[in-house]
Amino acid sequence: MPEARRIRDGANRIVSGRALEEDARIEASIRPAHFEDYIGQARVKENLHIAVEAARARGEALDHVLLYGPPGLGKTTLAQILANEMGSVIRISSGPLLEKKGDLTAVLTSLEPRDFLFLDEIHRLQPALEEILYPAMEDFRVDLIIGQGPGARVHPYQLHPFTLIGATTRAGLIMAPLRSRFGIVHRLDFYTPDDLERIITRSARILGIAIDRDGAGEIARRSRGTPRVANRLLRRARDYAEVRARGHITLGVARDALAMLGVDEHGLDDTDRNLMLTIIQKYAGGPVGLNTIAASLSEEEDAIEEIYEPYLMQLGLLDRTQRGRVATALAYKHFGLPFQEAPRKEETRRQTGLF
Ligand code: ADE
Repeated sequence: MPEARRIRDGANRIVSGRALEEDARIEASIRPAHFEDYIGQARVKENLHIAVEAARARGEALDHVLLYGPPGLGKTTLAQILANEMGSVIRISSGPLLEKKGDLTAVLTSLEPRDFLFLDEIHRLQPALEEILYPAMEDFRVDLIIGQGPGARVHPYQLHPFTLIGATTRAGLIMAPLRSRFGIVHRLDFYTPDDLERIITRSARILGIAIDRDGAGEIARRSRGTPRVANRLLRRARDYAEVRARGHITLGVARDALAMLGVDEHGLDDTDRNLMLTIIQKYAGGPVGLNTIAASLSEEEDAIEEIYEPYLMQLGLLDRTQRGRVATALAYKHFGLPFQEAPRKEETRRQTGLF
């Protein structure tokens, strides 16, 4: 495929919240197993902790839980902690992995009492499979269809009480009937630099990486509020330190390593900068449509919405409006450009007197 036509999905960026193969391996070894080791998300953690204690005291399955928020913030980790704390087994699958009705029915009927089923990217579950989830979640029942055509019969099959943990980066795509069947719904927010510094320090201890406090703080500030990014930058900084600084990550080593990776002091990389400069320079600061930006950058719309924009909005550099994406005054300041508020269409008409 010609270079210009190749659409990237953002997953391979050093600052992407989406999991890479290497992340999955390492995350499994450093992932906290219990609430007491889980750093950050204090409100969500407290709510879930109470729900677990109450369910355990009653000897019941935990209510179904929906976790949403940008990728890399710990949805899978929390699901595993919930199962551990309940002393239960967790089965892990995802919306796109379950292709046929039989795939989902097979998983549901194999669950033992109080088991957990984690469905990642639940917004990508096919509608026909979503229909199976409704009675399964509500009445612990699946309707098995035996036979075909006019002779087909529906056989209700009683499941054991279980807990479904749904995770999504796109809460807006979850339809009301599914959403309403989750008793517990929480949004995960970006982590503070302090929390990320503690996460980096903990990961470094487990992985045997020498890092001092300033080094951890520097990586934390550039990790886009995302533990997965923080742990990835920590590993890249270790590589750099081993080759250039006898293995020890100091403030200076962290800065040099991150500069080499093209990650700036706010955690922005080349793609973020291109995205913002495209809006500012090519489209006069916006508003400009998502599809136009995606075509300009040869990036997937999904990746832009899911990975890049949430953090740019959190930094206050980008606004999503009904008419499209807009660069804020702060964005102009960040890139050292003079800010001129884009004239509104109505004002332009009035000023020119053409209409
Ligand atoms: N590793 C990734 N996320 C974490 C968290 N929230 N707490 C501790 N370690 C983590």
